[in-house]
Amino acid sequence: MGLFRAIPKLLHKHVVMASETRESRERHRWQTHGAEPPPTAIVELIDGFKVSKALFTACKMKVFDLLGDEGPLSTADIARKIGASEGGTGYLLDACAGLGLLDKTEGGYSNTPLATLYLLSDGEYSLHSFVMIHEEFSWPFFSYLDFAVREGTIQAQRALGTAGEDHYQESFYKNREKKLQFMRAMHGHTKVAARQVATAFDLSGFTSACDLGGSTGALAYELARQYPGLKVTIFDLPEVIEDAVCFKPHGPQTVQVSFVPGDFFRDTLPEADLYILSKILHNWPDDKVHQLLSRISRSCKPGETASSTSFSDTHEDPSIF
Ligand SMILES: C[S@@+](CC[C@H](N)C(=O)[O-])C[C@H]1O[C@@H](n2cnc3c(N)ncnc32)[C@H](O)[C@@H]1O
Repeated sequence: MGLFRAIPKLLHKHVVMASETRESRERHRWQTHGAEPPPTAIVELIDGFKVSKALFTACKMKVFDLLGDEGPLSTADIARKIGASEGGTGYLLDACAGLGLLDKTEGGYSNTPLATLYLLSDGEYSLHSFVMIHEEFSWPFFSYLDFAVREGTIQAQRALGTAGEDHYQESFYKNREKKLQFMRAMHGHTKVAARQVATAFDLSGFTSACDLGGSTGALAYELARQYPGLKVTIFDLPEVIEDAVCFKPHGPQTVQVSFVPGDFFRDTLPEADLYILSKILHNWPDDKVHQLLSRISRSCKPGETASSTSFSDTHEDPSIF
């Protein structure tokens, strides 16, 4: 256990150390000059949600797709093409320009290289669907954060009007369109980090791996590319496996990757000498995490390994979100 688990901790440590250094430098400056600290950090925290929402809204209104196809365009043209008011569109475009997502010139607005790489809905490294998942699911949940903290429960009923017992069936997989959006979101988010994850450790000693809840295989294909002697099985729900073919890349590494449908809480896990859990454990309450890890532990033979990686979650009981 614990190979990939170290990654978020290291990142967390790095971020905490960086902010501690900045904070102690600033504190030293205020103390030396006998002045009150400026409220900059607090104001940034207060305004942070506006930045996210501007990005979500521009993605939702397909501003980056439009400018990818036809940019540069004027405010009036963009407003007409996305079916929005000229005044409101102007504010949104200027916000995106201020955030480094759009360039504003006399010829109009166009995507910056950052937006071109990550925000077009059909880009190779697209995070567009990942943004939309945050707009449609995370945003409503976080609006009820105070209830989640008070009650210690997932706020599915208040946020989405669902029971919150099976988030996948109730929300992400309730129809094929939503399912593909979720799969695209996972694919994009995992693909941008897959190479770093695959090469963070030397896995050349393993010959077989099973990526539990491995979705489209974004990490599996990268592992296969990096380790030609490794066979990777993706084990995920049947409705995911049936559409995983939509995400199959070209290249010789594809022969090393196979897909097995199943439920990791109920069905027999495929045999492997390395088990991978990428962005899985944060989805479940402690009793389910315990159940899953116990099942993996029973499947492991001596000398085999289970690894967990989380690309962003470091909180202690994220299941309430
Ligand atoms: C947050 S996604 C992570 C996907 C992928 N591991 C990644 O890093 O991009 C969680 C995945 O777990 C799968 N999953 C959820 N419940 C499952 C279950 N009971 N058995 C197998 N897979 C499951 C979902 O279908 C989804 O693909």
